[in-house]
This record gives sequence, structure tokens and C-alpha cells, in this order.
Amino acid sequence: YDYDLLVVGSANADLVIGVDRRPAAGETVLGTDLAVHPGGKGANQAVAAARLGARTALLAKVGDDDHGRLLLDSQRAAGVDTVGVLVDDAPTGVALITVDPSGDNSIVVSPGANGRLAPADVRAATSLFHASRVVSVMLEIPLETVAEVVRSLAPGSRLVLNPSPPRALPREVLDACDPLIVNEHEAKVLLGPSRVGDRPEDWAGILLAKGPRSVVVTLGADGALVASKDGVARVPSVAVDAVDTTGAGDAFTAALAYRLGAGASLAEAAAYAARVGAAAVTKAGAQESYPTAEEVEAL
Ligand code: RIB
Ligand code: NA
Repeated sequence: YDYDLLVVGSANADLVIGVDRRPAAGETVLGTDLAVHPGGKGANQAVAAARLGARTALLAKVGDDDHGRLLLDSQRAAGVDTVGVLVDDAPTGVALITVDPSGDNSIVVSPGANGRLAPADVRAATSLFHASRVVSVMLEIPLETVAEVVRSLAPGSRLVLNPSPPRALPREVLDACDPLIVNEHEAKVLLGPSRVGDRPEDWAGILLAKGPRSVVVTLGADGALVASKDGVARVPSVAVDAVDTTGAGDAFTAALAYRLGAGASLAEAAAYAARVGAAAVTKAGAQESYPTAEEVEAL
């Protein structure tokens, strides 16, 4: 394989304002100065993996604008192969983000060029799929494009899916996940009315029965839970002071995908990913907060 990881997904400019608290409907609050960071769940994952040492490629779509150039620069600086980053006449995706004093965020995404990443773009990138050990995808691109990714997987390669933002998934997509990675909010949306109680162990079991070969539930400061036909196991977290949680889940997913491709077990890969995610919350922004392998060791 030429690549440890191929990420197929979104690239956004993150427009971030710190707030004491979020405004209610009809209310105005004052925040900090605006910060513009390279983001987007796909672009974030690619940078996170490359920072850890993974040979990484990104298949994504940006606009021919300053935000698109910010994103390309960030990918190249991290060492990501951008041969699959296409430039469209739609504007680059934008995420409006507020971050509160506890480091928690709220995000509204305007897809822009991400919404133009089409099944035909996936078919045109067959050589990238054949060169990649693991493929990671999320839901900030059209669902029919995600389905085409599933159909394009090379024999022997592995698919990792974080259904964010969450929506119902076709069986064809669910069946291909190894693992499906969800946080508590995403788990609840996917489980819908069938949700039984508040135990993440139960959610994982029900999600597993929907088709994925394995499931990971991330639990923030409580670590994560991994589930497969071999059973369910808890993975501890690393205690850190949260500054900005934006993109920590993307770093978790990328690290997990990379370690799985390197032969780690699901529990081993999740434990490593939890350390990577913890490091990411200690700094502002998404991509700029991602650790190198040495920084993960030092944690
Ligand atoms: O997961 C964090 C990311 O979600 C941000 O970078 C933002 O662009 C949105 O895609
Ligand atoms: Na961060």
C-alpha cells in the first residue's frame, strides 16, 4: 500500500468565536475576536493522521478562494498527499463555531463545495482506493458519495465511518463499517426510538446488530467503549484540561484508523486514539491542535 489512510470527506474554514454562553433564540451576545482555522471533519482527519506519521491522502472538494487555499496549505504542511483535493466553482465549506469556557463547541456547517463531492469523483479516484490500507469517511459530504466509497473499497481494505452529522444510514453502508465510530449524540440519533436505557454498552450492542463489523462509542472524558463479535470493552481516557474540543473526535477517528491499519486490536487502537483526542483538546482549533507521535508518547 502507498497510503496508510485515505480520507474521503469535508474541508471547511472554521470561523470561531469564544463566548461566555451561547445566545438563546432572539438574543445577542458579545464574543471574542474572530479566529479563522482550517477545519472540516475530513481535512481534520487527514492532518491528524499525517501528524502521527501515517502516509495519508485526502479526497475532498474546496472552492477557488482564500479558504480553499488555507485548507490546501494546512494539508501540505502536515504532509498529506493532496492529489485528490479537487477545486470547484462553489465556495469552500464554512463552519460557524462558538466555543464556551468549558471548551465545548456548537457548530453550523455550510457545505459549499463539499456538497459537490460526487460519486463520479469517487469513481475517478479508483487508484487512490487501491493504494490505501484503510479508508475513512464521514457525513459532511453527500450520502450517495459515501455509498460510492463503500462500493469502491479495494479487496482487503478496511472502512472506518464516523456518521457526523448523524442521519439514518442504508444497510449497505452500515454493513461495511469496521468500525462505526459514534459519540453519545450520534449514537442516540442512529438508535432512534429503539434506544434501550442509558448504558453505552447497550447502545453498542444494538448498533452492532444493525450490521457493522465493529462499533466504537466515544464518551469524552469517560474514554470509549469498543464492541465486536468478541465482546464489549471499556477504554480509559486521559485526564486533561480542556481548552477547545473542536476536532478532537476527528483526531480520535484518524488515530484509530491508522493504528488499526498497522495491525493493532480495536481496544489497543482506541486506547491510543483516546490519548490523541485528549492531546487535541488541550489547544485551540482543530488541525493546529493535533499532536505528533512523540507528543502522544509524552502525554
Ligand atoms: O469536527 C470538527 C469540525 O466539524 C470542524 O472543524 C468543522 O469544520 C466541522 O466540520
Ligand atoms: Na483543539
